[in-house]
Amino acid sequence: MLNLVLFGPPGAGKGTQAAFLAKAYQLVHLSTGDILRKEIASGSAIGQMAKDIISKGELVPDSMVINLIQDKLDKNPSVNGFLFDGFPRTVPQAEALDNLLVHYGRNVSAMLSLEVGKEELIARLIKRGVTSGRSDDSNRSVIENRIEVYNQKTAPLINYYRNAGKYESINGEGSLEEITKRLKTCIDQIPQNRKSR
Ligand code: C5P
Ligand code: MG
Repeated sequence: MLNLVLFGPPGAGKGTQAAFLAKAYQLVHLSTGDILRKEIASGSAIGQMAKDIISKGELVPDSMVINLIQDKLDKNPSVNGFLFDGFPRTVPQAEALDNLLVHYGRNVSAMLSLEVGKEELIARLIKRGVTSGRSDDSNRSVIENRIEVYNQKTAPLINYYRNAGKYESINGEGSLEEITKRLKTCIDQIPQNRKSR
């Protein structure tokens, strides 16, 4: 089994690369951002709670995303593995993910961290905002807040996974193909004992 956390700041290319990797390794791609945007589009109670938070570039409560992930794990009991994209975003979310995976007889094989400089991130997000229709991509101050929230609340996960011996740093600048190749090389070198559950 292979359970990967694709990690990085907003605009690092997680969603784009996750789509390639999920296909290449037959993993279920779980993007909490995509799940939340679907909830918003459907007008559900969760969507209504998440809408304003997302448009400001803040994070929704841990319990909300943990429940959404638990639901997906429940619904996919016998898959080859999961590719988590945009989750976990906080240390409590990472702890909850570890506990949930133990419950399902799984564990995180590796955390792949896409490294991209701040100016490049902002340029990519502004460009994406032109076509994505995402409220949180279209405004520079919201984009800067998302990067700030990442630095404050999400970047500490690097140490969390480093301490677990699962942190892998990947250069996230260059062509899409180059970055996919770097990710695949890294995944193919994950020791077998980390892929056994
Ligand atoms: O992962 P993505 O960038 O698509 O997420 C979009 C937004 O969804 C985030 O900026 C944040 O507001 C919200 N989100 C969250 N908690 C997560 C994932 C996404 O609050 N675990
Ligand atoms: Mg994304």
